[in-house]
Amino acid sequence: MPIAATISKKTIKPHLEVKGKSPLSGELIVSGAKNSALVLMAASLLTEDELRLKNVPRLTDIDGMAEILSTMGVTVKRNNSELFLKASKLHHVELPYELVHGLRASFFCIGPLLARLGQAKIPLPGGCEIGARPVVEHIKGLKSLGAYINVEHGLVTASIPGTQKHLKGTDVVLDCPSVGATETILMAAVLAEGNSSIENAAQEPEIQDLAKMLNSMGAKISGAGGPKITIQGVKQLNGCDYSVMPDRIEAGTFLIAAAITRSNLKVTPVIPEHLNAVLQKLRDCGCKIQQEGEGIRIIPMEIKGVDITTQPFPGFPTDLQAPFMALMTTAQGTSVITEKIYENRMKHVAELQRMGASIRVQGNTAVIEGVPELSAAPVFGGDLRSTAAMILASLTANGTSKVEGLQHLDRGYEEMEKKLNQAGAQILRV
Ligand code: EPZ
Repeated sequence: MPIAATISKKTIKPHLEVKGKSPLSGELIVSGAKNSALVLMAASLLTEDELRLKNVPRLTDIDGMAEILSTMGVTVKRNNSELFLKASKLHHVELPYELVHGLRASFFCIGPLLARLGQAKIPLPGGCEIGARPVVEHIKGLKSLGAYINVEHGLVTASIPGTQKHLKGTDVVLDCPSVGATETILMAAVLAEGNSSIENAAQEPEIQDLAKMLNSMGAKISGAGGPKITIQGVKQLNGCDYSVMPDRIEAGTFLIAAAITRSNLKVTPVIPEHLNAVLQKLRDCGCKIQQEGEGIRIIPMEIKGVDITTQPFPGFPTDLQAPFMALMTTAQGTSVITEKIYENRMKHVAELQRMGASIRVQGNTAVIEGVPELSAAPVFGGDLRSTAAMILASLTANGTSKVEGLQHLDRGYEEMEKKLNQAGAQILRV
């Protein structure tokens, strides 16, 4: 009996079989933004009214956040891409560590819980594949709003001391423009007594989405999307209907899929100003980019190597560093990619090298020499975005690749292989 035949079914991990070199055409549809939907869901804790979210992507991270909110007493109902959340009766719970560790965004609940209940007990999220992911700025900001915070045994216990019922508005200056810290402090400050400001705030579009929704719930926020956000505390927030913005990282991933397969494609919907740095780099490396209705038409020509350095928004987003590196592996000439946001986000290099890419890494800088073609291979992704990068590389490789890491992919890309297959790709989920 050949050995292969004795490998039982259970050892074959779920994976995608990607047949390379099939050109794409038509259009790729972008879902609602994961990193906005997650924080908008957490904001449901700020009111006892019903919050109705539209354009919510179907992702395991969204399911995870729904589960976490339900343990706190929030009723969460889903109807296709609509989510109805009602936090009328919250019971104070200590979130289990494995839930928070698995879904870092759940830590952002600490701000709204503190603002609403006056107390919160949330495990430190811990690190992940790409870095330590500290929450120092989140905790510092809450302390300056008057919260008492104790961190021990991996647990963050927050409360409003003494007879105070509410947090007190104040001016916060962040040491680094942390997205999560900006969102956490923003959600705590909206119900604080008095005025607050956040300087050196993160400027990512997800912050604007959150501020826009909070304002339609009755908050008084201005300056979101810029370096300084000001908030006038209000007594209470009401429910509202809100549609999640399109996912700029999924959109960027699809634009790179078009570029790597040299396909003329439309990606829609896209808010261009959410992707200016990425659109510029795609133009610089040889793609024609034009707005077409609600979307972007990309027409790749000869792709040549360009350099990128990841930065906080509006710079080149770290979440598209791995997908863009996949594109550079078969570009003409040399490109230098520097990762400035995370300390350990180069794990996809080894997997790309297995497909024949020529890459040298020194610390957080990778030097890529373009090769004429990649060859298909069994590969895996270590995090959400590197798994996406391996799929992109497989689309152009010679042969059929086997891509593992679907537990990461399904966290952040809604039905990715289905969308790509509708545009002509040949991907099988096994
Ligand atoms: C959000 O994470 C996103 N996640 C990440 O997307 C994204 O990569 C990141 O922003 C940067 O754009 C969600 O929105 C759920 P940060 P967040 O706090 O809030 C350091 C994906 O693939 N830092 O802005 O955790 C930190 O170590 C995920 O969708 C401190 O040093 O990001 C990191 O190096 C991955 N001290 C950098 O800042 C702090 O107190 C960015 O972190 C906080 C952060």
